[in-house]
Amino acid sequence: MGTYHIKGGRKLSGEMEASGAKNAALPILAASVITTGENVFEACPEISDVDSMITILRSLGCEVVRDGAQLAVNASGLSESRIPEELMKEMRSSVFLAGSLLARCGEAVISSPGGCNIGRRPIDIHIKGLRRLGADIRQSTDNPDHIVIKAGKLRGTQLKLDYPSVGATENLMLAAISAEGTTVIENSAREPEIVALQEYINKCGGNVEGAGSGIITIKGGTKLHGCSHRVIADRIEAGTFMLMSLGTGGEIYIKGITAEYLRPLINCLKEGGCRIREERNSVYASAGSDSIKISGCISTAPYPGFPTDLQPQLTAFLTKHGAKCTVEENIFENRFRYAKQLIKMGADIEISKKQVIINGNNILYGGDVEAEDLRGGAALVIAGLMAEGDTAVRNTKYIKRGYSRFAGKIRAMGGEIRENDEREQNSKECQKKETT
Ligand code: EPZ
Repeated sequence: MGTYHIKGGRKLSGEMEASGAKNAALPILAASVITTGENVFEACPEISDVDSMITILRSLGCEVVRDGAQLAVNASGLSESRIPEELMKEMRSSVFLAGSLLARCGEAVISSPGGCNIGRRPIDIHIKGLRRLGADIRQSTDNPDHIVIKAGKLRGTQLKLDYPSVGATENLMLAAISAEGTTVIENSAREPEIVALQEYINKCGGNVEGAGSGIITIKGGTKLHGCSHRVIADRIEAGTFMLMSLGTGGEIYIKGITAEYLRPLINCLKEGGCRIREERNSVYASAGSDSIKISGCISTAPYPGFPTDLQPQLTAFLTKHGAKCTVEENIFENRFRYAKQLIKMGADIEISKKQVIINGNNILYGGDVEAEDLRGGAALVIAGLMAEGDTAVRNTKYIKRGYSRFAGKIRAMGGEIRENDEREQNSKECQKKETT
């Protein structure tokens, strides 16, 4: 497992182009299974979750050719409807393939999806909606861990989600494409990544409207062709780097990002005294001359609320720039694991099930900490960059699931970070032994 070695105390300043969004690319790649003909995706993030999705698409018989951030996908030769279990476990978004496989070939065999260990993450809302569309869903006889989903003919219907689940909204949008008649999904998630999925589906000849409003209407029975599509910018990456730069007293200019997608974070930073300038397709943020002071309570909520995917990074930032702050997590039940690692670095944090109370103004000290999930890992890197001294953040594999060229982007802004994989470390130690 790789380790980031960080020397803290440097200001991070500079400009960056936000990469394509992980949480937009993954559902769109799953949706490409429904199309026949060539898709060309631009700004597809170079992250391990996309690598996993490419492996799954190839295992289903799709042709995938990758050239950096450009991806060509042709699903005409799809020959499989069963997702290999070990691939299913790789990440949560493999569950979206259920909806697209149903739409394409009328059946799917999936197992319980993997993903970051930030909560139980059931798929009951997905299953309930697919059954309402007419899918027959049962445990497989040969492997109780497998779920066999068959859909003779899906029929459009009225759905109302018990909770605005992002994944369930996307999965049901995809399944409804092949249903006879119209499907309406009420209480759907409203994230920008869902609007992006609608745009992709319509470019492929689909007929979806209402994404972003909470009520999505899908006219079924359409055949989808391939198209060229650019993945929208990653608002979570942009927010992560904004907190990283301002947390170290720097300034950052982020190109290609829509400020509206970061509204709750921008409001929070402005209230704390940061200078933020919004342009049409970019955001400039500066720590400014006075010290940043943020107090009060920040609660995560479904979009357009404060994004749960920025909660760990904000908490790390507040250990230094908060006064007395409460951060409440309302989406996932186990998303504070990183906080214990921050305490090891000198943070004054009280942890309870649903919230952390941060007694800010801390001086953080470098330490040896472990990333346990994607966003918690990013939070530890932010803390290491703000801390005095050296920090080692272990298990970089979690961070690489969702951030492309993470260390390189930090170095480009003046941060001192390098990665060494333990295998490399071991071989260096062996060489040293041989020469002594
Ligand atoms: C998506 O996960 C994102 N992942 C997550 O990003 C993000 O945190 C989350 O949406 C919320 O915005 C991708 O898009 C690939 P949910 P998803 O279904 O779809 C419960 C990151 O760091 N729930 O909206 O899994 C669930 O347990 C990742 O980039 C059910 O109970 O999120 C959770 O508590 C992490 N039953 C809540 O709803 C269901 O059937 C939100 O889950 C589905 C969800």
